[in-house]
Amino acid sequence: MALLEIKNLQLEFGSGPGAARAVDGLSLRLEAGKTLCLVGESGSGKSVTALSIAKLVACPPARYVGGEILLEGRDVLKMSARELRAIRGGVVSYVFQEPGASLNPVFRIGAQIKESLKLHRPDAATDAEVIRLLKLVGIPAPESRLRNYPHEMSGGMQQRVMIAMALASQPKLLVADEPTTALDVTIQAQIIELLGDLRRQLGMAVLLITHNLGIVGDLADDVAVMYAGQIVEHGPAREVLNRPLHPYTQALIQSVPELSTEVQRLTAIPGTVPLPGAFPSGCRFHPRCPKAQPACATQAPELLAAEVGRNVRCPYSKSEIRNPKSEFAS
Ligand SMILES: Nc1ncnc2c1ncn2[C@@H]1O[C@H](COP(=O)(O)OP(=O)(O)OP(=O)(O)O)[C@@H](O)[C@H]1O
Ligand code: SF4
Ligand SMILES: [Mg+2]
Repeated sequence: MALLEIKNLQLEFGSGPGAARAVDGLSLRLEAGKTLCLVGESGSGKSVTALSIAKLVACPPARYVGGEILLEGRDVLKMSARELRAIRGGVVSYVFQEPGASLNPVFRIGAQIKESLKLHRPDAATDAEVIRLLKLVGIPAPESRLRNYPHEMSGGMQQRVMIAMALASQPKLLVADEPTTALDVTIQAQIIELLGDLRRQLGMAVLLITHNLGIVGDLADDVAVMYAGQIVEHGPAREVLNRPLHPYTQALIQSVPELSTEVQRLTAIPGTVPLPGAFPSGCRFHPRCPKAQPACATQAPELLAAEVGRNVRCPYSKSEIRNPKSEFAS
């Protein structure tokens, strides 16, 4: 049994004729201890998908109109409020983009980590455990650091504290939604390295959401590429980065000038990202696709197996582009 299996998820905002389907038939699978990266342009539905894993999207305005989110085999969408409280933190923990906004400015960081421990592991709510967690996330001199207020720490250190808080509950799945976007480039690399180390040490699964394809290869086992509420390509990270099959993945890779450098919003593909409720007919990428065929405007492609372990939502996909920027390219 997979740790996480999302089957045909359908999520709408609003109701009636004005309803906008932000996630449309999304399926994903993540095994225990593995790392999956979810990539795609702004507005493709990455965050609402990630938040759905612990049913954290406010309903209303959202409405789950179909599908299942199986966490350890149990459907999150059918859980009671009490069961949801137990899995939030207990099975799945989150790290978000802005550590400064998530930490409470008036409490010392040690006290905030202890609060997280009290909630999930009351017996372990001790200074010793706080120090162990701060050490685990690479904070130097944790014995004195635990008395710091958030503003006394750099953005990178604040993000390490957020990761320590997320780890306090010993989750099986850590969801990191653009955890490095707000940080300097060198600090980003350190946080990604930390996530990789923690995954190895703790054996937890990681779902990493990112705009930065440069970090996908460093961390991911698998990658899923999202466009307009759907997965358009899914497969082993090394394969997808080396030989992207879907024209959108190819365009994403081409649009990143230098992998592993500046964080870019992925906006270099000509045309605009369609909004939920106004997705184009046929293939949702057709107005922007350099390889579009006449039928693409009317025929909606399905996500199909293109090769062993690789799924692609484009009947015309070809592996003609070798990604010259991939560190795996030979
Ligand atoms: N509360 C809401 N009400 C209405 N629409 C929403 C709400 N939250 C998200 N959406 C819409 O759902 C779509 C997907 O949003 P989401 O935040 O998941 O995108 P994303 O892929 O995470 O983008 P980004 O890279 O900018 O974070 C967007 O078009 C967004 O406007
Ligand atoms: S189905 Fe057509 S428009 Fe869509 S990605 Fe493939 S070639 Fe491009
Ligand atoms: Mg987002």
